[in-house]
Amino acid sequence: MTQADRDRLERLNSMLKRRGIILPAFEIHGGAAGMYDFGPLGGRLRNKVNQIWLNHWLSQGDIVEISCPTVTPFSVLEASGHVGEFSDFVISCLACEQASRADHLLEDIHPNPDSLSMEELANEIASKNPACPDCGAVEWGQIEAQNLMFSTTLGAGSSGRQAFIRPETAQGMFTNFPALYRHFRQRLPFGAVQVGKGYRNEISPRQGMIRLREFNMAELEYFIDPEENSKHDFSKWSTMKFNLVPDSSDTINTTIPQALDDGIIRHPSVAWFMASTAELLFHMGIDASKLRFRQHESTEMAHYASDCWDAEILGSYGWIECVGIAHRGCYDLEAHENYTGQRLRAWRDWPEPVQSKRTLVTIDGSTAGPAFRSQAGAVKEALEKMDAPPTTYPFKLTLSDSSIVEIQQEHVKIEDIDETINGEWFTPHVVEPAFGIDRIIWHLLDHAWNEEEKNGEQYSVLSLSPSVAPIDAAVLPLMEKDGMDELALNLHASLCSMNGIQSSHDASGSIGRRYARADEVGIPWCITIDHQSLDDGTATVRRRDDQKQIRCKIEDITLHIRDGKMNSLFE
Ligand code: ATP
Ligand code: GLY
Repeated sequence: MTQADRDRLERLNSMLKRRGIILPAFEIHGGAAGMYDFGPLGGRLRNKVNQIWLNHWLSQGDIVEISCPTVTPFSVLEASGHVGEFSDFVISCLACEQASRADHLLEDIHPNPDSLSMEELANEIASKNPACPDCGAVEWGQIEAQNLMFSTTLGAGSSGRQAFIRPETAQGMFTNFPALYRHFRQRLPFGAVQVGKGYRNEISPRQGMIRLREFNMAELEYFIDPEENSKHDFSKWSTMKFNLVPDSSDTINTTIPQALDDGIIRHPSVAWFMASTAELLFHMGIDASKLRFRQHESTEMAHYASDCWDAEILGSYGWIECVGIAHRGCYDLEAHENYTGQRLRAWRDWPEPVQSKRTLVTIDGSTAGPAFRSQAGAVKEALEKMDAPPTTYPFKLTLSDSSIVEIQQEHVKIEDIDETINGEWFTPHVVEPAFGIDRIIWHLLDHAWNEEEKNGEQYSVLSLSPSVAPIDAAVLPLMEKDGMDELALNLHASLCSMNGIQSSHDASGSIGRRYARADEVGIPWCITIDHQSLDDGTATVRRRDDQKQIRCKIEDITLHIRDGKMNSLFE
């Protein structure tokens, strides 16, 4: 980053803080690294981004929203592999003792340090001597794996159970699979989304909103039958070209359906979610020329993934991953099934039933009934689950309630039976787009912020898309007298009472200063109430993006703001 870029970043951060968009958290207590607040304007910006995100996916018709606790029992995250695998490599500077993420030290030295093993990282650091970002020294200690989850306890005292604060929202969607399967009447494909906080004890959260310890996630788990042909419609994206960086090769510019045909993107659902993700990001206001998709190298992929593409956005910190679109296969459902013994499967009908012969192990009712009495049903169920007849007698059989019974040969009947089989149980596969909302918001702000000089003074405009702008319109009484203030306050109240609309009422200072304040925080429309407004019910509307002004009836303005059609007033 050049000094000029650093200076711009500082000015942008200072504006975001001064105007209550994004502020360091707990600042009056000295702050907390890797934590930010969304202030009076930022709170609404985040809410709008979340809402657009939700609406985009829920409008598909086969996706529902759920919400699960952030505190997660140990067993869930042990089953998912996070207890064993969710680590980054940490290394400490021998001079100042500050810890750094080992791969981040090599960012300007190696093309993809995230893909290196612990040993490879240690060798690279020993041979390249990267400087400590805190003190500049080049002597490093031992490299170690550090699990990123925050641990906690569920319950008090010695009876408390170990738990973690979730590092992703995804596990709640997997553990809810039975409820989702029932909700969708046992028919794949379907998906669940969840918007909420994720927590990771990041080793060195240095890049502002990019690397947080508590952050806003929005994840979608889409459950599919791996054997069913995908029904995704790519027609909308048949000509739109994207920059794709396939696994360890150069960037290509192509359409998503073409990349799928060429085998660069390995799965149609992954391709479809990539295209739909781009559409969503553009709708929020991400500049299309600053988006690319990068495929993970096999050594870089998370422990659960079999193909993964990151949507990366170019901003002040370079190319940053903002969305990970991963094919998780059957990893998660299988892991939770194996851990809990609960069946997390879907039923697949075959096109034609199949006749088959099989050997059934069951009970001989005349002897097992009196021997096992009330347990006879459970014994039958357990015997019928056996894949092959027992070879020795007596033997121990575990029942579904975990009790163990001894089975004699006389209790067992072996039958050869003819069966008609209509289908089979299988573990669905999952494709997951995982969005980091804070990183997206950062890039929306970074792309929208423009500085210019006006009358010898710094002037900045935040050209946010009206779809995410925290305030939809500013109402400005030219003077606070003769009834202009009352009319303005009424208009402000009537705008705020409309569903999804927020206006700001600003009566302080010159009208020029008020326009500047509105531009600085991205308010798309300023409505000025003057003497003429009192006479004929019209007001001046000023458009942020070209500062053009027109005069219209106040009731037309309100209706056009409500319908998101203000530009049509200027045509
Ligand atoms: P990175 O490689 O940058 O650490 P990741 O590969 O660990 O990210 P994922 O595990 O795929 O990220 O998480 C899904 C999304 O959550 C990311 O695309 C990113 O937008 C966001 N995210 C992950 N970690 C953080 C963080 N510490 N702060 C803010 N957002 C994050
Ligand atoms: N659920 C994706 C991730 O957090 O890695």
